[in-house]
Amino acid sequence: MASEKPQDLVVTCTAPVNIAVIKYWGKRDEALILPINSSLSVTLHQDQLKTITTAAISKDFTEDRIWLNGQEEDVGQPRLQACLREIRRLARKRRSTGDGDALPLSLSYKVHVASENNFPTAAGLASSAAGYACLAYTLARVYGVEGDLSEVARRGSGSACRSLYGGFVEWQMGEQADGKDSIARQIAPEWHWPQLRVLILVVSAEKKQMGSTAGMQTSVETSTLLKFRAESIVPERMKEMTRCIQERDFQTFAQLTMKDSNQFHATCLDTFPPISYLNDTSRRIIQLVHRFNTHHGQTKVAYTFDAGPNAVIFTLDDTVAEFVAAVRHSFPPATNGDKFLKGLPVTPVLLSSELKAALAMEPSPGAVQYIIATQVGPGPQVLDNAHAHLLGPDGLPQQDP
Ligand code: DP6
Repeated sequence: MASEKPQDLVVTCTAPVNIAVIKYWGKRDEALILPINSSLSVTLHQDQLKTITTAAISKDFTEDRIWLNGQEEDVGQPRLQACLREIRRLARKRRSTGDGDALPLSLSYKVHVASENNFPTAAGLASSAAGYACLAYTLARVYGVEGDLSEVARRGSGSACRSLYGGFVEWQMGEQADGKDSIARQIAPEWHWPQLRVLILVVSAEKKQMGSTAGMQTSVETSTLLKFRAESIVPERMKEMTRCIQERDFQTFAQLTMKDSNQFHATCLDTFPPISYLNDTSRRIIQLVHRFNTHHGQTKVAYTFDAGPNAVIFTLDDTVAEFVAAVRHSFPPATNGDKFLKGLPVTPVLLSSELKAALAMEPSPGAVQYIIATQVGPGPQVLDNAHAHLLGPDGLPQQDP
């Protein structure tokens, strides 16, 4: 269908972070970023964590440029180049099929991009998924591309294609060599399971760990466990996890989430030389969750960990306050008592002496820096407000948009 609306030359969008409950780890094609197994994630709410990106095109720009968190970055990075190439290819394709007559010149225009996170990058929270999803979504708007953007986001970072949708999202691995069927798809919208809550426990990390890209490459080359997982475990788990979400079966959802996180970290240990992303605090959080669940005689809380020591906790609204009190008891804030909990408000409660005894943990002060309380959220959004643009009329970053 021909677009009647003239194309915007400057667009600002936001995109969410996602956290996988069935993990992606390993590529079958490094260049196209095609995974060895499907994965499934929960999109987190942008009120707490999001990337905001402005893209502008103009005949006056002489080169493509990008600023991340205010700093100009090298636009020649291969993944960035892949995203730009891909979006321009789609725009050209659309034009040649007669869909984009309203935008004849813009394809030759250079683009300026500015992107910021509303959460500290230093916290070690995965920002590349939100960042590349936001880039793909914003570039699509500015170049007048419609339809699924999995391919564009994926070329930036595999997990980014899952941040293109809200709610519960699967990334189907696909079978084709060209990756055309390796796409993200929403399996349930953000309002599907309103009781679900997410707590991010930001753990102090002493040293920098190996990044996902290099880590999974070594795993694919050396871990027989990873091969077994991808071929024989994940296909069943994808079906089971989808069922748990559809039926809002928290107990099984929680158990499978923990098992899949543990298996991912087991494949890291099976990598040679081994990789370990968890630290002592991560392991103490695992112990805390299991003791909490054992005390209650049911699975009320689940943990999952990506390529770093931070824990992401899933629970239901009726359990948040008690679990936060348990974390505070085991990891008392070192200095910032009042800033320990960010995000959604949580009413403070006292821990029962029975639960304290059941946790049986020596407190480790300061080991958890802070908690971000959030929930399931929607996919990328276009910001209509012109004041939101990160780039000024001159195409350069604004000081205080
Ligand atoms: C452990 O998407 O960051 O978070 O495709 O190389 O950019 P690249 O890797 P990336 O890997 C994420 C791995 C994970 C699990 C997951 O999100 O599924």
